[in-house]
Amino acid sequence: MEKFFINGGKKLFGKIKVDGAKNSLLPVLAATIMVDGEVRLKNVPKYTDVMNMCVILEYLGVLVRWQQDDLILDASKIEEHTIPTALAGALRSSIFALGPLLCRHKIAKVAYPGGCEIGLRPIDLHLSGLRTLGTRIVEKNGYIYANGESMEGCDIILDFSSVGATENLMMAGVLTKGITRIFNPAKEPEIVDLADFLNACGAKVEGAGTSMIYIEGVEKLHGCEFEVIPDRIAAGTYLLMCAMCGGEVEIEGFLPYHNQVLLAKLCQTACQIDIKDDKIKVKSEGTLDAFGEVETAVYPGLPTDLQPQIMALQAVSHGFCLIVENLFEARFKHVPELIKMGADIRFRSNVCVIKGKDKLYGAEVNSPDLRGGVALVMAGMKAEGYTTISGIELIDRGYYKLEEKLSALGVDIKRIDD
Ligand code: UD1
Repeated sequence: MEKFFINGGKKLFGKIKVDGAKNSLLPVLAATIMVDGEVRLKNVPKYTDVMNMCVILEYLGVLVRWQQDDLILDASKIEEHTIPTALAGALRSSIFALGPLLCRHKIAKVAYPGGCEIGLRPIDLHLSGLRTLGTRIVEKNGYIYANGESMEGCDIILDFSSVGATENLMMAGVLTKGITRIFNPAKEPEIVDLADFLNACGAKVEGAGTSMIYIEGVEKLHGCEFEVIPDRIAAGTYLLMCAMCGGEVEIEGFLPYHNQVLLAKLCQTACQIDIKDDKIKVKSEGTLDAFGEVETAVYPGLPTDLQPQIMALQAVSHGFCLIVENLFEARFKHVPELIKMGADIRFRSNVCVIKGKDKLYGAEVNSPDLRGGVALVMAGMKAEGYTTISGIELIDRGYYKLEEKLSALGVDIKRIDD
């Protein structure tokens, strides 16, 4: 097991480039199951989640190969329709394969997904939407058995705008005969990105990013070349890192309209932010006023995936901040670890109150999940002394070569063996 070892207290200077969005890549990879022909995904970072998704695709019979940073996939000869527990348990996004497998084989057997332990994360909306489309589903012995022989386009109304359910149902609709309309879908940028990918393969999807997605079923999808959008969560993380530690950093691949609430909050502090196209320059003394109050929400609200990183910043900001987590019920597991480093945080249920301190102190902490883990990296970067973070394989799920990127900005961080 590897750890991060950080000698804190350094300011950040230089440039950093944001990699492709993990949360776009995962559904796009699942969608390749439906494509007849070669798909070339450009500039794909080797996040662990991406590599695990590739293992699932290879198991199903998709030909997967890398050409430098491009990932080339060909599902023409795919035969398998089962995803066993050992593979599905590696990541939450294994459930994305259900819709595409049904389109491809009319039958699928998929084990329940794994993923970061940030809450119960049910999949009822995925399944009820597929049932509305005409799929017969039986849940037995840890598997979802699905038969899609009677699938037909129809109206699906989601009672919550789930990102994953919207993506699964959108994929299920593209090769299903007739018109499928998804009402109250998620509007996250990754939904639009997936629709753009599907359309590049010959699908007919309209309205992604709005309150209704309209899909006209087509007979086949063909190969294409595609590059996903930059990762807005990684972009926001780097912005928060510089705001917290101080310094001057240019972030390339920061799309301002993907992080509006975060920018609005940071602009109310002493942080200087200069936006030009997809680049942002941030300058900070590293001593900011607290945000006061924030709550996570579906897009375009503040992403739950930035909540732990915002909390790390608030732990060393002047004043109080109240954070309400509205998406996941177990997403405060980083709190006890931040407290070990000297943070003053109280929490009940889905609410945290943070009283900013002048300093944090290095400690041995454990990464509880992907974003909670990167929040600890931030705390270690700011803290006085040495911080050791274990469980960093969870951070590798969504940040590629993080220590190299941060070292280039002047952070004293190393990946060490246990
Ligand atoms: C996706 C993102 C994740 C992000 C989350 C919210 C990917 C790969 N992951 O996760 O990084 O934190 O969106 O922006 O894109 N829910 C149900 N039933 C369902 C589905 C979801 O009750 O069938 C609930 C969940 O428990 C949660 C809420 O809906 O409380 C949001 O979940 P959802 O939007 O589905 O998130 P994911 O797709 O899992």
